[in-house]
Amino acid sequence: MKRIYLSSPHMSGLEKQYVQDAFVTNWIAPLGPHVDAFEQEFAAAVGARHAAALSSGTAALHLARLLVGVGPGDEALVPMLTFSASVNPIVYLGGRPVLIDSERCSWNIDPTLVAETIERKVRQGKPPKAVIPVHLYGQSADLTPILEVCNRQALCSEFTTSQRHRENYKVSFLPLFAGA
Ligand SMILES: Cc1ncc(COP(=O)(O)O)c(C=O)c1O
Repeated sequence: MKRIYLSSPHMSGLEKQYVQDAFVTNWIAPLGPHVDAFEQEFAAAVGARHAAALSSGTAALHLARLLVGVGPGDEALVPMLTFSASVNPIVYLGGRPVLIDSERCSWNIDPTLVAETIERKVRQGKPPKAVIPVHLYGQSADLTPILEVCNRQALCSEFTTSQRHRENYKVSFLPLFAGA
């Protein structure tokens, strides 16, 4: 049976040269021209005005939750099938993750359950602060119905594009943030 690796390293040929260049020019820390170039190229690739490189995915997700305004007591909807980095930053900020089951076809967050949960919580007078779909292993979550319910309820949706940054979702680039 052919073994399928999870995230096996991919080298495009220039990595050694760039590492050597960082040593030779002494731009090991704090940042330097390679990080600047990465941020510019990444922003251009995803159609954003700016990009900020961080030390880890968890740090980026923590920052994103701060920007969305998740705080003590706030609830945020996250998929049940994901990496702990989707959940931990909500807890760092004193919020409460609400785990939503996967849909059968994409294994990502189920949009029907998202809509039902949001509507129930709105009726109870405690709308969630954010919905956080994750595009796990390069497979995008079904965003259209999620965006519809977020727009209807004026909620913020923050997207963790883990393993999927550039591919088109239907017609446009996968958005990083949407909604109010
Ligand atoms: C869904 C998801 N989010 C975030 C991350 C990044 O986490 P880290 O803080 O380890 O870079 C990963 C890494 O595997 C991931 O799978």
